[in-house]
Amino acid sequence: MSAVKYRLDGNVAVLEIDNPPVNATSISVREGLAEALKEAGADPAVDALVLTGSNGVFLAGADIKEISSGLSNKFPMLRDLQSQMEALPKPIVAAIQGVALGGGFEIALTCHWRVAAKSAQVGLPEVKLGLLPGAGGTQRFTRLAGPEAALDAITSGAQIPATRALELGLIDALADDVVAEAIVFARQAAADQRPLRLASNVTEKITGADPAVFAAFRKKLESKARGQLAPWRIIDCIEAACTRPKDEAFQLERDWYNECRNSAQRKALVHGFFAEREARKIPDLPTDTQPLPVRRAAIIGAGTMGGGIAMNFANAGIPVQLLELTQEALDRGLGLIKRNYAASVTRGSLTQAAMDRALSLVQGVTEYEALAAADIVIEAVFEDMKVKKDVFTRLDAVCAPQAILATNTSSLDIDAIAEITSRPQNVIGTHFFSPANVMKLLENVRSRHSSARTIATAMSLGKQLGKVAVLAGNCDGFIGNRMLQFYSGEAEFLLEEGATPEQIDTVMEGFGFAMGPLAVRDLAGNDVGYLIRKSRRIPDDERFSPILQRVFEAGRLGQKSGRGFYRYEGRTRIPDPEIMTLIEGVSRDLGITRREIPDDEILNRLLHPLVNEGAKIVAEGIAIRASDVDVVYVNGYGFPAYKGGPMFWAQEIGFEKVVETMRKLAPTHGQRWRPAPLLERLASGGQGWSDLKKTA
Ligand code: NAI
Repeated sequence: MSAVKYRLDGNVAVLEIDNPPVNATSISVREGLAEALKEAGADPAVDALVLTGSNGVFLAGADIKEISSGLSNKFPMLRDLQSQMEALPKPIVAAIQGVALGGGFEIALTCHWRVAAKSAQVGLPEVKLGLLPGAGGTQRFTRLAGPEAALDAITSGAQIPATRALELGLIDALADDVVAEAIVFARQAAADQRPLRLASNVTEKITGADPAVFAAFRKKLESKARGQLAPWRIIDCIEAACTRPKDEAFQLERDWYNECRNSAQRKALVHGFFAEREARKIPDLPTDTQPLPVRRAAIIGAGTMGGGIAMNFANAGIPVQLLELTQEALDRGLGLIKRNYAASVTRGSLTQAAMDRALSLVQGVTEYEALAAADIVIEAVFEDMKVKKDVFTRLDAVCAPQAILATNTSSLDIDAIAEITSRPQNVIGTHFFSPANVMKLLENVRSRHSSARTIATAMSLGKQLGKVAVLAGNCDGFIGNRMLQFYSGEAEFLLEEGATPEQIDTVMEGFGFAMGPLAVRDLAGNDVGYLIRKSRRIPDDERFSPILQRVFEAGRLGQKSGRGFYRYEGRTRIPDPEIMTLIEGVSRDLGITRREIPDDEILNRLLHPLVNEGAKIVAEGIAIRASDVDVVYVNGYGFPAYKGGPMFWAQEIGFEKVVETMRKLAPTHGQRWRPAPLLERLASGGQGWSDLKKTA
């Protein structure tokens, strides 16, 4: 069975790529296409060709497994097919339905003309995997649509709706019955002997391109793409399309593609891609487990988190009730949601109609009885076990028996919350991240009572809300926050030993974190941080820094009070000599002689405790697999996606190093900082995370 179906419609050969589910351009597709193009070229009865895809899509892109395995470099490569297409003296028309993405769109761009269904989407998303479109994509796109459109689309990897693609000149016609109309188009082009239009020869939009466009775009991308390779190389490619001779520009694209392909960033981003998919698999759930359909939701508590969580449901088109005990608190919460939406409308990222639709789905209530029809209720009240237990007792009394009762707690014991209800099997943690309407991570936390259906529902809720869901086990801090305490603890020890807040934050931001640990503390609030710290049971033998407490007691609550580890003017942080006086006072009180701390020591000492605790979390089964920990850190904690996540990072630098660093820290820091036995095992056995699966 060939991956390309070949049929004749009169004098038009129709080549239909059939490689379920999404017609990725795997080697079988490329071989099939090469064969079919040859056949159509040689057949005197064929005057024109139409290229299309089965399964409701054109071609969704490369087979990502082939990029890692090297098969994508096997003959015929995309560019071999493109040479074959461009050499064919017969018109080739792409009939695009569903999506034409990545390598798929590069093939479409090589056709002489493109007809697309009105609902189709096209785009070059390679940047998301640390790549650039290496089969002429940056060149043909730029020649058809011009450099400005190309810069926006290819550095972001965004999908472009067919109507917009038509305006940009990327496609030539919209159609209802796309294959039939493409056949008519192709036949007509042949009959009229229309000159074949190769995108690689189109020049109107690239001649005289203003060099300032590139300078301005590079500036715009500076903070967003700091430290990354692919976005910058994409700009270089687009600039080359406008300024260099055609063959040279195509060659540069190829060279830069190879540079990206061989980069550590590409490897890390491909790891992340598969890790997110793997995270959906929960090995101990029976395969026939059906999630409960979530048609109505309710949120308890309309504070920072509750409001954001409600917005997620409204955005997904799911009616959601928001409960507060008083009308006043409810009005405040609803007002905040409205202001959030209005800000998006002002920014232009949301239409007024979409805002109205979302708001119409949010219903404020003050009585628990109103929640009887909810399929899932998510509690987001104060982080206090007594208050939570009270809420769950009330929910248990009024909610439908099959309804799922979830908690957004960031640290409390889910088992204890479940056990207060008469349906512990329906209780689960759904831990959202702040701001909940923006952050991608949903850390679901199973209690020991959670049923398979409850777990499946929480996981599929992630998909419904457009989140990346990971399942964690129940322990203090779950996956993310449990690791974080060692990371932020280490930051304070470094302050005591001689570092400054801006030195630490600059090092971590230089590594690629969205924000350094002390800037994060100021954003979250040092009162909140201190309360969490106080509630933790810290063993007696453990090193403990009083810095956070003193910062809190000095009224330096962070951004909200204008002072914390920095001084703030608006949101701009400014180094503050006063905080240094406080920190130096702590060093003095503890008898620590401050010293100059090298940047690489800061980086290592902050990342290693993350990895070490992550390994314990994997060994205990709190995370199902090491890559789940990476998904949590990349999507919830600002770890740079292009570094793969802490566990991936550790494997790349070598487990021996992690073990060695932790061995150095443990004597001063306490037992909990000892190297994780799992890491010691991996280090001595020369193994990687994936070997664990094989031996498990
Ligand atoms: P918040 O203080 O902003 O909001 C809590 C809301 O719950 C308030 O509006 C309050 O009026 C309401 N409330 C209190 N008791 C209630 C009751 N018995 N019935 C109904 N409503 C009640 O707190 P925030 O930050 O939204 O946190 C909520 C939960 O989310 C906590 O468990 C917290 O640990 C967790 N969380 C917070 C994150 C954050 O960054 N703020 C991140 C992840 C989880």
